[in-house]
Formats: sequence, C-alpha cells, structure tokens
Amino acid sequence: MPEHTLAARYSNWTVLRERRKFWEQHSLSEAFRRDPERARRYSLTAAGIFLDYSKNHVDAETLQALLSLAQEADLGNAIADLQAGKPVNNTEQRPALHTILRSQSQPADDRGATVAAALEKMAAFVSSVHSGKWRGFSDKPISDVVNIGIGGSDLGPRMVTRALRGYLNNGVQVHFVANVDGADLCDTLAALNPETTLFIVASKSFSTLETRENAFSARRWTLASGCPEAELQRHYVAVSSNIDAAQRFGIAADNIFPMWDWVGGRYSLWSAIGLPIALAAGMENFNALRRGAANMDTHFSEAPLESNMPVLLALITFWYSEFWQAQSQAILPYAQRLAQLPAYLQQLDMESLGKGVDREGIAVDYQTGLILWGTEGTNGQHSFHQLLHQGTRLVPVDFIASRQPMSELDGQHRHLLACCISQSQALLAGKSLAQAGQELRAKGLGDAEVAALAPHKVIPGNRPSNTLLMENLSPETLGALIALYEHKVYCLSVLWNINAFDQWGVELGKQLGTAIHPAMQSGECPEDWDGSTRQLVKLMAGD
Ligand code: F6P
Repeated sequence: MPEHTLAARYSNWTVLRERRKFWEQHSLSEAFRRDPERARRYSLTAAGIFLDYSKNHVDAETLQALLSLAQEADLGNAIADLQAGKPVNNTEQRPALHTILRSQSQPADDRGATVAAALEKMAAFVSSVHSGKWRGFSDKPISDVVNIGIGGSDLGPRMVTRALRGYLNNGVQVHFVANVDGADLCDTLAALNPETTLFIVASKSFSTLETRENAFSARRWTLASGCPEAELQRHYVAVSSNIDAAQRFGIAADNIFPMWDWVGGRYSLWSAIGLPIALAAGMENFNALRRGAANMDTHFSEAPLESNMPVLLALITFWYSEFWQAQSQAILPYAQRLAQLPAYLQQLDMESLGKGVDREGIAVDYQTGLILWGTEGTNGQHSFHQLLHQGTRLVPVDFIASRQPMSELDGQHRHLLACCISQSQALLAGKSLAQAGQELRAKGLGDAEVAALAPHKVIPGNRPSNTLLMENLSPETLGALIALYEHKVYCLSVLWNINAFDQWGVELGKQLGTAIHPAMQSGECPEDWDGSTRQLVKLMAGD
C-alpha cells in the first residue's frame, strides 16, 4: 500500500474497521438501551452551544480509536500552529489568522494594530451612517446599503445579517447583490432611491468578474440619477486588500477598509467584510458576534481533544466518510433565520475540503470533503427527508436549534422544536416490519393488504445525527456556532492531510470564461475547443 493512504498513516485503522463491523451487528437503539447514561455521556457544552452526539455510532472504544487518529495526525500541535500564525496555507505560504480578527486582546504586533485600527474605522463609519451624519450627494441621510460581493465577500455577511434580524434597529436596510446575472442588481435597485443608497464594494482581490460588473453597473445607476462624479465617494466604499484597484474604480482612499492576505475570503466575515452586519445590527452586536467566536476559539485551543467540540464533530464526520462511505452531510437548522446557513457552510466546508491532493501534492486515494446540503426545518421534512428516512444512502445530519423562539409566536416554536426532535428520533428508531404491520392491522386492514403494504412503511432507522442547541440565536452564540464549523473544517483538513485554505479548483472556470466571453462577441471559436462548447457558444451568442 502506498505511503499516502490513510490506512498507512494511522495505526488504529484496522481497529476502526473492526468497530465498523461491530456497529453492523449492534444498533444505536440497542446502545441507548444498554447504557442509560448514553445521552449524557455523549453530550457537551462549549461557548454556549450544547452538542448531543449520542445518536452517532460511537462508544468508548470507537471514540478512543478515533481520538488516536487525531493524536497521530498531531492535531493538538496543528491547532496551536493555526492560532500562532504558522503558514498552514502551504501552497501560498500564508497563515490563516481569522482568529486574530475576533481576539478579545489584540496581539501587540503589526497585525494586531492594523485589526484594531480597522475596527475603529468601521465603528466610526457605522456611527456616521446611523446618526445621519453621512449624507448622499443631495444631502439626504442613507436609508439603504447594498453589499456587492460574492463568495466569502457575500455569504457570511448575508447569512449573519439574516440570522440577526431580531437585532436590527438602526433604520438602515441592508441588501446583498452577488450574481453577475443583471437581474440580481436590477431587482434590488428597483425599490431603492439612488440619493440615499450607499454601496459597499466587497472584494478581497478587487478583480472578481461578478463584483466588478455589478459595481460598474451600480456606479452608472448612481451617476444617471444626477450624482456628480466628484460626489460618488458619498455613495461608494470598498473592502479590499487591493487598494490600487479600488482607487482606480473611483473609491476614495479614506473609504477603503482593509483586508489582508492572511485571512481567507470564506473566513473573513469578522473583518470589515462584516460591515453590512454592523450596519444592520449595530457595532455592539458585531462585536458580540466576534466575542462569541473568540469564546469558541478559546475552547478549541484549551479543551483536551476528547472534550473538544470542533474535534469531536470532525472525528464523527471523518468516521462516516472513511468507514461508512457517507458521501454527503445534511445541515438542517430548525431556525428560520438560519435559512442561509447551509449555503454559507457549503463555501466554508466544500471550498476548503474539496481537494484531490494532500499537502505534499500527492493524489489522495481516499475520500475528502463531503457534499454539504440542507435547508431550514421544517420545510425539508415535506421534501427530501423522505430520502433521509427511507433512501439507500447514509446521510449524517446536523440538527441546529434555538431553545428560545425568535418570534413572539411561542406556541409555534414548541411545534418547531418538537419537529426537530422527532426527526432525529425517527432517524434513530425507524419502524420495523412488525410495527408497520401492527399499525395497519389496527386500522382494520386484512392480512393480504398488510403483507402488501407493510414493507413500504418500514423505516430502517439506525441513522446518525448530531443536535446542536443554543439558548437563543444571539450574536454571541451565532459567532460561536460559526467558529465551531470553521474549526471543524480545519480539523478535518489535518486528518486528511490537505490544505483547507487554498481554492485552486475555482480558477480554471474563471480562466476559460475570459476566453469564452470574447468568442461569444465575435462568434468565432478556436478549432480545438470541443464540439459541445462550440455549439453552446453559437446558441447562446445568437441574436
Ligand atoms: O471564486 C472563489 C473566490 O475566490 C472565493 O474564495 C472568494 O471568497 C470569492 O471568490 C470572492 O473573492 P473576492 O473577495 O476577491 O472578490
């Protein structure tokens, strides 16, 4: 077996294969019957988040073997390296220091100073917009802010702004435009007044096609409303590490908020990329979000591996991926305001872990990142939960809920939580053929009908899930929840020995797009392009 297989890397691999066989003979329901303390034993709380992972195929032996992998992967030191600013992004020789952005005591170095200065600049800007001091070209205060950005410059602030809807109290409406499809921008601008609309052009590189096109179109919209070019600075600010490009676009130096190459786009909502959050929910709530994340950072760096929440979540995902061949994982927030969480986690997790070579550049012969998907509960119950309960694929689930309601409709919140609990219970317990038959007989069906129908009603059960419970969806707990998943992703990257902080895979499509766009204009395709691409260019470019 070549060196780079996981079986060669981890000495307890065969032990885990044996544990997998054990779980083929023993169901989760049986494990709960055997151990009345199981739920308590496999639950823990960190940074205001309660995790119940007892509905997974783990026990003392399985966890011990999984933890030994974490030790062999030197996860403890890898966590220290991340937080110490070692170049964990080895293909770009960069650290990944998103933890500094929310640290409650900034390090006394250049990075700490620049983060502190950026936070101060943000606070001053937010206060000036909220107080009405910041005015548009016709001297009216700002009523609407449009964030133009994509990927990490969009998904984080979009998700958090929606999640903190209950904390919005500043009268400024925040909108998000990402897609290069002009309908996104036009539909957003249709209801807005250019005199009172401020744009944040959010792009770490300031070279992203979608953001560039939307920003130029927005600029034309502002100018067409009568804004003199010299007054554009009242309507445009940028967040970028490419100061020159932002200035070339026409954004005043004072209106540019910094980004740094030591923070990845998908880990950047804690920086000035979070401006839309601060504008929507206030700087105090943005700081509370950062505080919550810092609490999870402390837990991550201090808790022993066996009681470290991000580590445990990563080991459980690793277990199902490598030993149970799980292809995907469902993220099911039973909280309407977390509706954007699955989309946000898709970038965080899949852009970080969708890798085919290890840190040394050797093609891996094992599975890496899983496919993440999901939607807000209870909507999924009336759609894809059928596959979760009776389909042939194993899909581990994360249920996420808040104990307190996010609306004044308390009664409905109990229904929501009851649905959440009943889904994880149904996945675990299932329904046997005997139970199905009994139910049908109780409804008065005869033997022949029962025999025909009962197999369709069988639900295998024994399907795994985690439940993450917050007291309420406050800025602090949301910050902790996001940091939890960030760190889980990092732990998985260490276990798989891959780089979580680069994303070369998204580049090829961008490169090819730059050749296809002119071909669509000229109608001429190079001879060596494949027939399908040439056909599509012709069809789509046609008048
Ligand atoms: O295309 C992927 C990506 O590079 C993401 O990693 C990033 O978050 C997004 O594009 C946006 O990049 P930027 O902030 O530089 O516009």
